[in-house]
Amino acid sequence: MIQFDAVHKRFPNGTTAVHDLSLEMPEGGVTVLVGSSGCGKTTTLRMVNRMVEPTSGTIRVGGRDVTRQDAAELRRSIGYVIQQGGLFPHRTVLDNIATVPLLLGWNRRKARARAAELLETVGLAADAGKRYPHQLSGGQQQRVGVARALAADPPVLLMDEPFGAVDPVVRTQLQDELLRLQKELNKTIVFVTHDIDEAVRLGDRIAVFRTGGHLVQCAAPEELLARPADDFVAGFLGAERGLKLLSLRTLAAVPQGPAPDSGTWTLVLDEARRPLHWRSADDAERPVRPLGDSDSLLSALNESVASPTGLIARVDADGELTGVTSRDDILEHANRAHAELGVAA
Ligand SMILES: Nc1ncnc2c1ncn2[C@@H]1O[C@H](COP(=O)(O)OP(=O)(O)OP(=O)(O)O)[C@@H](O)[C@H]1O
Ligand SMILES: [Mg+2]
Repeated sequence: MIQFDAVHKRFPNGTTAVHDLSLEMPEGGVTVLVGSSGCGKTTTLRMVNRMVEPTSGTIRVGGRDVTRQDAAELRRSIGYVIQQGGLFPHRTVLDNIATVPLLLGWNRRKARARAAELLETVGLAADAGKRYPHQLSGGQQQRVGVARALAADPPVLLMDEPFGAVDPVVRTQLQDELLRLQKELNKTIVFVTHDIDEAVRLGDRIAVFRTGGHLVQCAAPEELLARPADDFVAGFLGAERGLKLLSLRTLAAVPQGPAPDSGTWTLVLDEARRPLHWRSADDAERPVRPLGDSDSLLSALNESVASPTGLIARVDADGELTGVTSRDDILEHANRAHAELGVAA
């Protein structure tokens, strides 16, 4: 766990970057810091590994006050990923990844073997290891940045807008990868982003900051979306706050029934009972996008609006049809989800 206790940071020029911050970032979880530019996110992050020293207050990592630890040693025990990877341009990818293990005194062979293993972990081909950072795409460089941060298997990872410089498709892929890795690794991650969708997707907790380094609210994504503390947080979450809430709920608990075998539209299946398309009585076809239990209520609602019948096709892991669900059932479930949250308040 990372604990901030009444932490204040005032730079010598008089700027207060972080104001009386008390915050707990749970062990093995992802805490996302969001807020407008200049609100103190990077400063907060850099105080964890002592790249910035607080003016007052205490920061503990795993129960130990960071100021009581050797700064260089502390930094080696905490992975750090920044935008555009922050890679050393004149070192090969493999040597970039091996940086911290070498600093820790591993022999070259062991450090390189570890680096090669991590290349694979982050989804890069082995031959990428011999290249230099400028010979990789932005997304690949970010992967190398993540691999480098993981090299010495640190319990804590600090990530400062790590996916900020890549296009939306690559960004989603990198987010997926991080979620997959985190399932295995259970690191304590502090992640800074400007992108509220990214925060909702990745965060176990989201901390919203306001200019002047004030923490306004820190809560689980569902809680934040359902009950923003004030107008500032609501504004930051944006007009689609309700839909984002639906993106966090899955279809699993929504009932399904048999597919209609008569009527204007029927669902056409292939020989393995996988949905192909909707077909009307006069032979018109409309596409179908089958959904599984782990798909979100938002995807379901979207599909039901696009579907000519208002029905969505539900499938199992093999893509085989298990049943259909109506738009009304999806909406009723969405209402129920919201009501449950309301009661908990
Ligand atoms: N070394 C410094 N000296 C003086 N002021 C600084 C220093 N570093 C940051 N600041 C100021 O502290 C405030 C917080 O900066 P910080 O970089 O933490 O913001 P941020 O939330 O990460 O912003 P962004 O989203 O733009 O990255 C800003 O007003 C910034 O100008
Ligand atoms: Mg910043």
